[in-house]
Amino acid sequence: MQREREQWGTRAGFLMAAIGSAIGLGNIWRFPYVAYENGGGAFLLPYLVALLSAGIPLLMLEYALGHRFHGSPPLAFRRLHRRTEAIGWWQVAICFVIAAYYAVIIAWAARYAGFSVGQDWGDDPEAFLTGDFLQVGEPGWVSSYVSGVFWPLLAVWVCTLAVLALGVRRGIERANRVFIPLLVVLFLFLVVRALFLDGAAEGLDAFFSPDWGAITDGGVWVAAYGQIFFSLSVGFGIMITYASHLHRRSDLTGSALVAGFANSSFEILAGIGVFATLGFMAAASGVAVGDVATSGPGLAFVAFPQIISTLTSGAGLFGVIFFASLVIAGFTSLISIVQVVISAVQDRTGLRRVPAVLIVGGGIALVSLLLFPTAQGLHYLDVADHFINQYGIALAALVIVVVVAWVLRRLAALRAHTNLTSVVHLGVWWQVALGVVTPVVLGWMMWDSLRQEFDENYGGYSTGFLLTLGWGVAVGTIVVGVVLSLIPWRDRDEFVPAELDIVGGKEQV
Ligand code: ALA
Repeated sequence: MQREREQWGTRAGFLMAAIGSAIGLGNIWRFPYVAYENGGGAFLLPYLVALLSAGIPLLMLEYALGHRFHGSPPLAFRRLHRRTEAIGWWQVAICFVIAAYYAVIIAWAARYAGFSVGQDWGDDPEAFLTGDFLQVGEPGWVSSYVSGVFWPLLAVWVCTLAVLALGVRRGIERANRVFIPLLVVLFLFLVVRALFLDGAAEGLDAFFSPDWGAITDGGVWVAAYGQIFFSLSVGFGIMITYASHLHRRSDLTGSALVAGFANSSFEILAGIGVFATLGFMAAASGVAVGDVATSGPGLAFVAFPQIISTLTSGAGLFGVIFFASLVIAGFTSLISIVQVVISAVQDRTGLRRVPAVLIVGGGIALVSLLLFPTAQGLHYLDVADHFINQYGIALAALVIVVVVAWVLRRLAALRAHTNLTSVVHLGVWWQVALGVVTPVVLGWMMWDSLRQEFDENYGGYSTGFLLTLGWGVAVGTIVVGVVLSLIPWRDRDEFVPAELDIVGGKEQV
């Protein structure tokens, strides 16, 4: 007996969820700095090429796989070809790791929304972050727990699992329909406020000034493709999962175009907001914008607190809105990441939603709560993030395009499937983008980053402990993927919907 797969209520609901997954911490704290470092205004050219030649085509491939094979990544890949199921489980393992640490950053942001009111970080936000708040200790095994991080993290997990327990339509769709418009309103307010700060023009000038020489540098192109993959959430299997809940008659290409451009528009808006604000800070402290520009935790939890403390009016409100935006952007992405794991286990075992959320979601929450609110949490997060991005997501995307395009030669069939229900039809360009451009660029990226890795240990870590952990995570997700794919399915016919019958040796599309 095949249980009905839950479907999105409306196309707008699906789009909100897809956009909610894409717009995340990467848009707010990663893009502005990556763009600035890699040619400023000139970066927009490689960025746009990356979006059109690889980002959107890959997004469409994930939509096609999810929609065509009606399943989470392991099931979708199994239906594509029995031997490719391990790729799906590998993506599930990657999502497990990302969810465990991504939630912690949301918890920090939630705490900082509270700290903003009284600017609790005092005169030295950096010392406050690593000392008072995170109580960072030496790299190694967990030495002590940090309750100031534990409780907000627990709250993040309770909210995430509550949304997921409500299901695709009542939980994920509704949450995104509320949070994404709210995020846009809050963020627009922030950007407009930032544009009126003294020094904003200098900040924008630094951000947009094109350094055309940069586009002849291969590293800038690698950065553009890397940013597009992370930001669009391709390679995680999220879009395969989300598209598996679409109606049979769904416009796949139109949805991918809307989601892709919405994500990039938000990214550019974030660049404007962040650099206008950094311009203000540079002017206030009498230094160049380049001296204050940074990304990641340094931007959100050190530079922004400094800026908030410098504001003469509305500082608390500005801080609360900035950190609330981070919480919302992160929360809607976290929901999508955890959903991949839950959906995969449900497809595999036939478990109902609530028990699946409690067991699987609860398991990820437990790992997250045991490892990250600790004196070593920041080290673990840094290493897991680096290795899973470089050798998890990007490598999985590379393997997928090579297997689908070259080993199984299924791009033409997937293109035909997509064109059956889509308004904008895919041409041969799509096959060229995925079969040639994407593998070449991803292959080059992989080679380049491995070369750097061996030239210089990541983060200069000398203890070996964290490096082992990083490689362990990257290799471990592959091993877990392969092992899970070897376990026989309880009753595999039970899960094959009628429309996937093979007729005369050929699939019906
Ligand atoms: N796409 C999500 C982000 O940008 C994962 O953070």
